[in-house]
Amino acid sequence: MDCIRIRGGQPLRGRVEIDGAKNAALPLMAASLLTDQPVTLARYPELGDTRSMLALLRRLGVEVTPAGPCSRSLALVTRRVASTTADYDLVRRMRASVLVLGPLLVRSGQAEISLPGGCAIGTRPIDLHLRALADLGAVIDLEGGYVRARAPRQGLRGARIRFAQVSVGATENALMAAVLARGETRIENAAREPEVADLAQCLTAMGAGIEGIGTSTLQVQGDTAFRPASHRILGDRIEAGSYAAGALITGGRIELAGAPADAMTATLDVLRSVGARIELSPDAVVVGRSGALTATEVETGVYPAFPTDMQAQLMAVLCLAGGRSRIVENIFENRFMHVSELVRMGARIRVRGRAAEIDGVRKLLAAPVMATDLRASLSLVLAALAAEGESVIRRVYHLDRGYSRLEAKLQAVGATIRRAAEDGET
Ligand code: EPZ
Repeated sequence: MDCIRIRGGQPLRGRVEIDGAKNAALPLMAASLLTDQPVTLARYPELGDTRSMLALLRRLGVEVTPAGPCSRSLALVTRRVASTTADYDLVRRMRASVLVLGPLLVRSGQAEISLPGGCAIGTRPIDLHLRALADLGAVIDLEGGYVRARAPRQGLRGARIRFAQVSVGATENALMAAVLARGETRIENAAREPEVADLAQCLTAMGAGIEGIGTSTLQVQGDTAFRPASHRILGDRIEAGSYAAGALITGGRIELAGAPADAMTATLDVLRSVGARIELSPDAVVVGRSGALTATEVETGVYPAFPTDMQAQLMAVLCLAGGRSRIVENIFENRFMHVSELVRMGARIRVRGRAAEIDGVRKLLAAPVMATDLRASLSLVLAALAAEGESVIRRVYHLDRGYSRLEAKLQAVGATIRRAAEDGET
């Protein structure tokens, strides 16, 4: 396993190209199962998770070819479904595999998906996904660690789905199933994340009829007659926020080219409250620092609140902010795995239930640390970029799931960072 070595202390300055959003690309790729028409995705992010999704989709019968001059475009077409089973060996590596459930079920009338199991940040059940598909008429059985879903012979039928709790993935599964159900579906308490809206925009381009995109109530026509479609994937607001945090924690200034400013309001507001100076231009968000970092209080929540996927990155910045900060994590029950590693670097953080209190320190100290999950590993990178000395971050495969060309992008803005073979896992 690789590790990453970072010698901290340089302010990051320059321009970073923001990729297409991982959490938009994954459902968009799954949506290609719905139709035998080609779907072309531009600004496709080359990531561990998107590679896992491609492996799964190819097993299910999706043909994938690079499209167009830009290497970052993919054309996906499912002339026929070759399998309706998503195996455990793939699903356990990436729980977003569950997003093939709705499309497979409504295209082929059945689907067998391994239960994803939990991950470092929580148990992450899929009960809301299953209840929504049952509302559409699916028969769901759980056996041998698999979800087996079957549609009635006449197919799924439109229904009123009301989510008891907001869920990004469950909204996406329900939406993809509803576009091929017979008749209209109304989805209430739908997730409003920009990545859900991006999926709805692409489904519309493919021929679906969807009203209320971006709101918490979606009205879906059903019985879609699909046509070939092209879609440019939304910029990754979490990647952009992560590099913005890098500019802040190192006292530098980074131009985030292609950052989706309109989808980042809560993140930019919180970074401003900590001391960021932010300028918006037509194709970039520029983040600098307007003085010393100051403490703040933040709660994570469903969109448009401050996103849970930025919580670990913000915590790294707050380790150097004067005063006592407080972060409440409302979405996942165990998303403070980065705290113990940040404490090893000299941070002063106390966790009580869903709340973390951070007392700012003057400086962080380099140390060997261990990545535990995707966003936690980025918070360690941020801390290492600000710390004195050379830090070693192990298990960087977590990082590779959601950040492409991380070293190259950071080197381009002045970081001393390199990947090395693991020097013996201790
Ligand atoms: C999506 O996960 C994102 N992943 C996550 O990003 C993100 O943190 C999360 O949304 C919240 O914004 C992708 O889009 C691929 P949820 P998802 O369903 O859909 C509970 C990253 O770092 N829940 O909105 O799995 C669940 O346990 C990843 O890029 C149920 O109880 O999130 C959680 O506490 C991490 N039952 C809460 O709801 C269900 O059936 C929100 O989960 C589904 C979810």
